Formats: sequence, structure tokens, C-alpha cells
Amino acid sequence: CGIVGYIGSKQAQNILLEGLCKLEYRGYDSAGLAVYKEGRLDVEKREGPLSALEDRLKEHSLSGEMGIGHTRWATHGKPSDENSHPHLDREQQFAVAHNGIIENYLELKEELQEKGYTFQSETDSEVIAHLLADLYDGDLVSTVRKAVGRMDGAYALAIASVREPDKLVAVRLASPLIVGLGDGENFIASDIPAILEHTRDVYVLNDGEMAVLDRHGVELTTTDGEPVERDILHVTWDAATAEKGGYEHFMLKEIHEQPKAIRDTLAGRVKDGLVDLSQDLSFTEAELKRFDKIHFVACGTAYHAGLIGKSVVEKLTGIPVEVDVASEYRYRDPIITPSTLVVVVSQSGETADTLAALREAQQTGAKVVGITNVVGSSVAREADEVLMTWAGPEIAVASTKAYTTQLIAIYLLGLYLARILGTCSETELSDATQALVQLPEQVEKLLQDPVAIQRVAGEIAQHEDLFFIGRGLDHAVVMEGSLKLKEISYIHSDAYAAGELKHGTLALIEEGIPVIALATQKAVYEKMVSNIIEVKARGAYVLGLGLEGDTELGKSVDEVITIPDTRPLFTPILSVVPLQLLAYYTSTARGLNVDKPRNLAKSVTVE
Ligand code: G6P
Repeated sequence: CGIVGYIGSKQAQNILLEGLCKLEYRGYDSAGLAVYKEGRLDVEKREGPLSALEDRLKEHSLSGEMGIGHTRWATHGKPSDENSHPHLDREQQFAVAHNGIIENYLELKEELQEKGYTFQSETDSEVIAHLLADLYDGDLVSTVRKAVGRMDGAYALAIASVREPDKLVAVRLASPLIVGLGDGENFIASDIPAILEHTRDVYVLNDGEMAVLDRHGVELTTTDGEPVERDILHVTWDAATAEKGGYEHFMLKEIHEQPKAIRDTLAGRVKDGLVDLSQDLSFTEAELKRFDKIHFVACGTAYHAGLIGKSVVEKLTGIPVEVDVASEYRYRDPIITPSTLVVVVSQSGETADTLAALREAQQTGAKVVGITNVVGSSVAREADEVLMTWAGPEIAVASTKAYTTQLIAIYLLGLYLARILGTCSETELSDATQALVQLPEQVEKLLQDPVAIQRVAGEIAQHEDLFFIGRGLDHAVVMEGSLKLKEISYIHSDAYAAGELKHGTLALIEEGIPVIALATQKAVYEKMVSNIIEVKARGAYVLGLGLEGDTELGKSVDEVITIPDTRPLFTPILSVVPLQLLAYYTSTARGLNVDKPRNLAKSVTVE
């Protein structure tokens, strides 16, 4: 999760520790350092807070003027001392701190094990250290290039070696990494706050680039060895802004992290153009075929992901699906049989109601799949099978990237089930999968221009009541949009199935009342436009959200925002983004505490 590296003439230990400390806000479950001294790389690492590592270092400090440090947020392998970074090879010649995921690590691990390399941890990261040892050709930089050529995935690496102790190597592929430029010393960091105390001059590495640092200089190249020219970025942010990567709030940062979070959650799960979850779920084909109903159980935003899950899984597999909020599920005596698959969805994996539902379902003999964002969390430990979302730590109370990655996990599950059960043709599955992998890029595009949303937010911020309407999947999305807005702007809103409005709530529509109307579902588009006209006729101020190329919607609404076209099943990933931004800008327009709204907690561990 956090990487720091130092090479200079001061003692590295404290510089590395302080750097990690500055990254603490990002969340982590363990930490470690490797420091070079007289032909040795000494390593100390501990599960738990940085103070646990600090206590250990008080007993046994690491002396030396070059080293790397890491705070870990578990991905492959639970939080533990062994799984913490840095990782070393057998001969302790190479130390590696890694962020991200090495997708082909199992293949590399088997290959290295066959050559006699033994592994100390369950991590994907440890393969890198052994791979470097295996490929070492007398030149660290060329060895790193060779190793990188063997690794698929997304990563940021800091590498130190006893073979060439006057160097540090940094590599970036789809995981942030910067180099800090000092006077007689240089730094590596995954984030600017880690080094801000020492320097404000940095190189920001791009994907596919590497940096070789010594005490006096830094050389940038591509991982193929082509020289790279880069202007020095002089950082003017204060420490608090730097923590948020230059964004004003964590929520905005996390909204912008969604393309990466989605990419990471898809990574390694699409093979030969089709979804393959056989590495995640150990169900046999026969077991999967036995499930005759599915229950999604969750709270809050995760419940809203479950609502999408119902439509998606029913459509793809024909298996009946129910969705419940966990606090209701437990007490309504749901009909659970051994052939029911219960899917609990929980970002934190610690929500008390969700956990209780999980346990109760297991007691009845049902199998439980946990969709969670935290390795080693209670849901991850207790569920029979786990499908991780790789959103990374989410700090803002209002959930954004966790929700979109939960949706991705649900799409993956639906497409995988459909493939095993044979409920969709291979062409349908491969077309859908192709559309799925385009989503990160489409989200990126959506984030480019928030001006229209900011304008609508300015209008909405002056109201105390408003409505969200939508049909089909759009209804589930407006429920999430409405929750986001309530959580952080304190404006009351209701999310309605658009066809229900006339059965009561239409009475509340009067001059100027804002209505946010989603019209992305082609099958019910005309009906939706009729509903928009109904509210418009009563004086509502309407924001319409439709698909790119829709030239009709603009005629019936006051403001229109479009999302890139995709299959109807996947629009929620795209349509929720403007709603997240709308909530965000409305909250800031009201001058509220976006990241920590009143009365709410990120994770609710009491019933
Ligand atoms: C809290 C948070 C919500 C979240 C819900 C479920 O209420 O404020 O944002 O959706 O818990 O959390 P979970 O960690 O189980 O997804």
C-alpha cells in the first residue's frame, strides 16, 4: 500500500519510518523495512500498526544509509509478519517492496519452486525477489528489466540489492510511484506525503518507466531501456493536500481512483476473452450447478450493489435471486436450503449485521460467498468462498470505489455462473466480457468534465427535498445516488421506481423541485421519458441522465448529462459516477464535511 526508499548519507531507518508514518492515513495492516549495511540487507517487519515495528526497532535498530520500507494492505495472503514486505530471496541478496498484483505469480512461483527456490510467505510479491535472484546477470538494472518482462499485472516496485548497494531501483506499471530529488540523497515513494519533509522536487513516473537512483542522481528510462526526459515537478501542496493526492477530499480522490480500482478487480479474472473465477472460487462445476436460488445480503451501499446483483444474476443465469438488507434478513426467517447460495457483500468485511447474517446462513447449511475489500476481515475469514474487490483502502465514509468494484465482482460472478451453467451462448459471454473490460476507460472519460454536474449541484444545494427516479437497473442506481446525496449533503431525497411516482409521491412535485431522472435502460426508455414529462409538467427542475447519442432526452429536461454507451446490464457502473460527483459537489457547495459526515461511521460493527 505504501512504499518508501532512501539512498543518501543519513541513517535510512528513521527516514523510512517517518515516510511510512506519513502514509498511515491510507490504511494498512503490517509494515516493514530493509536496510543495507556492510554486505547485508537487514529486515524487520511486523503485522499490526507501525508502533509494533517501531517497538521492535527500539530493541534491534537497523543501521545503514540505504533501504526500502513498506506498509501493506493485504491482497494475496493474510496480514502476518511473514507476508509483510520487504521480501527477500533465499540468499538475501535482493529486497523488494511491492504494491499491486502480480497476476501470473502462481505460474512464476511453480517455475521457481521447481528450480529449488523456497517461499516464506503466501504473497505474490515474494516471487519478485526470487525471480531477481534467478535472473541476476551481474547487472541489477538489466536484471530488473528481465524480471519485469516476465511479470503480468499492475505494480510499483522498490528494489535494493547487496550486489549493487550504491543503487535503488524503482519500477512503475499502473500503480503510483514517484522519485524525490534531494541534495546528496534521493527517495522513492508511492505517494508525495512520504517525502515532503525532505524534498519538494519530484519526478512522477509513468506506466512502464523505471528509475535508477544513487546518492547523487536519478536516471529515468522505460522498462525497455529507452531514456526518458521528465520535467521536475515542484510540489507546492501542504501536507494535508498531499495526503489526498492533490484532491480536496478523499471522496473526490476515491471517485477518481475508480478506473484503476475496476481494472484491478478485473485483473486476472478474464482469460481468453471469458470470465474465469476458478482461482477465486473453489466450487466444482457440479456444486455450482446445484444452486437453485441465490440470496444477496448486505447493508447500505453494499445492499445497493446487491440490488444490481439480482437483475444481473437472474438475467444471466435464470436462477431466482432475492436481495435483503442484513438487519432484516436475520429476523425474517428467510427460506434457506443447502442448495441456496448466499452472497454477502461488505466493503469492510466487519459490518455486524452482515456478519450475523453470514453466520446464520451457514448454520442452515447454505454456502456463503463473501464479496469484500479487506483481506483477513471477518467476512473474508468466515465465508466459504471469497471474491475480493481490489479497490484499495477507502477512507471517505461515503462509499464510491468500493461500490463500483462490488458491481464488477457481481458481473464477474454472474458471467462465470452463466458460463458454467451454460445459460448464455459463448458469443454472448465473450461480447459481454469485451464490454466489461472497456468500463475502466469509459469511467475515465466520464470523469473528465464535471462542469455540468457542478452547475446542477449549485442548484440542488439550495433545496431541502428532491427526487431521484429510474426504471429497472436505473432504479437500483438512483437508490445509491440518493443515499450518497443524503449522507454527505444532508438534503432529503427519495429514490423512486419512476412508474410508482403517480401512485402517491407525484403530489409532492411542485414548482422548482429538483428531480434527477435516469434514462439509460433502452427497454423502458419511452416509459421513462413519459415519467419525466409528468414531473416536468408539474414544474420540476429535471436533470436527465442518458446514453451518449441520445438527442431526445435534452428536449424534455432542464439539464442533460450523458454516459458512454455500453450494454444495458453494465450502465450502473457508469451512471453512478455522475451521481457520486453530484453528491460531492452539492456537499462542498454547502460547505459540509464531505469525508466525515455527521452521525455516520465507515464501518458499523454494532448491531
Ligand atoms: C456503513 C457505511 C456505508 C456502508 C455500510 C456497509 O453504514 O457508512 O457506507 O455501505 O456501512 O458497510 P460494508 O463495510 O459492510 O460494506
